[in-house]
Amino acid sequence: MTLRPESYIDYPRWPQLAREAYSLDLSHVQEKLPDKVDGIVISGMGGSGIVGDIVRDYLSLIGYDKPIIVVKDLQLPKFVTSRNFLVITISYSGNTTETIRCFEECVKHNIPVVAISTGGKLEELAKQHNAPHVKIPKATAPRYGLPCLLYPTLRIVGLVEKSLESKIREHAESSIKAIEEAAEDYLTHFKDLSKRLVNKIVMIYIPQPLISIGTRFKNDMNENAKQPVVVCPLPESEHNDIAIHVRKFDFLEVMLVRSKSLEGTEYEKHVNAVEQVLKQYGIDLHLINLKGDNVLAEIMYGITLLGMLTIDVAHLVGVDPVKIEVIDNIKKYVSK
Ligand code: PA5
Repeated sequence: MTLRPESYIDYPRWPQLAREAYSLDLSHVQEKLPDKVDGIVISGMGGSGIVGDIVRDYLSLIGYDKPIIVVKDLQLPKFVTSRNFLVITISYSGNTTETIRCFEECVKHNIPVVAISTGGKLEELAKQHNAPHVKIPKATAPRYGLPCLLYPTLRIVGLVEKSLESKIREHAESSIKAIEEAAEDYLTHFKDLSKRLVNKIVMIYIPQPLISIGTRFKNDMNENAKQPVVVCPLPESEHNDIAIHVRKFDFLEVMLVRSKSLEGTEYEKHVNAVEQVLKQYGIDLHLINLKGDNVLAEIMYGITLLGMLTIDVAHLVGVDPVKIEVIDNIKKYVSK
C-alpha cells in the first residue's frame, strides 16, 4: 500500500527527510563541541520542543546516566549556568521567542550551545556569536519536519558522547524503517480508528518512560485536528485519571500503548493492570502495540502512526491540519 502524498502532508517523505537530515555535514559543529559534558539541555517549543522529549526518553531507556533537561520555557534552569552542560536550541522557524531567549542566555553565560533551524533569527544570532548552527531542510510546517529536527540532534549527541555514537547510528537506521512500517500499518489497520475519534476527547494511557509519544500525539491532535487529548502516564494516572471510569462519557475514547522495550519490566505489569481494569469497567480500549527493535524505533513508530491518525481526524472534522491560526495569533503578541 502506498501513501497518497497529498493526504498525509510530509509523512510520505519522512523516511527520506530522516536520511537526509541524518547525513548532514556536522563538521563545523563537531569542532566546537566540548570534550566532555555533565549533561545535555534541549530547548524548543511545540513541534521543535518534542525533539527534547524524544531524546530524553530514548537516552534514558538506553541507560545514559547524565541529566537530559528538556526546556520548554523562556529561561534555562539556574543550575545549567554553573555546570558543564551542552545546550541544543531547536526552532524549526528560528523565530520562536522562548528558544531565542534560551540561546541568548547561553551566549551571556558562555555555555556551549548549538542552534538548529531552517533559518530565521536563530541562524543570524548563531552567526553573530560564532556558535555552530545546523541548517535543516524545510517541511510544510514545523511538526511535519520532525525528522529534520530529530536526526541531526541525535547525531550531535553521538558526537559529544562518543561511546554512544555507533549505537545511535544503528538505532536511527532502524527507526527510519519503523517510520515506514508505521505508515503501512496505519493504512492497513488503523485508518478506520480516525472515524471513532471525531469530536471525541482521547485519553491515552502510556508508560511514563515513553511519554514523548503521548505528548506528541496530544500536540498533533491539538494542532492538526484542533481537538483536545488527555495524556495519562503510567503509573501516575493509576492514582487519578483512571478514577473517572466509574462514569460513562459519550465524548471519551481511550487508548493504551504497549511497548516491547518495556516487556519484563514493572511497567508491563502496570500496562496489563490498566488493560484488565478498564475492560472490567466496559471501556472499549484501542490498543496500540509499538513495533521496532529498539526504543527509538518504537518511539518513531508510535509517533508516525498516531500523527497520521490526527491528520485523518482533521480531514474528517473538516479543518485544515496545516493552519494553526490561534498559535500564529499568540505569537504576534509574544514576539513584540
Ligand atoms: O508545529 C508547529 O507549528 C508548532 O508547534 C511550532 O513548532 C511551535 O510553535 C514552535 O515554532 P518553531 O518550531 O518554529 O520554533
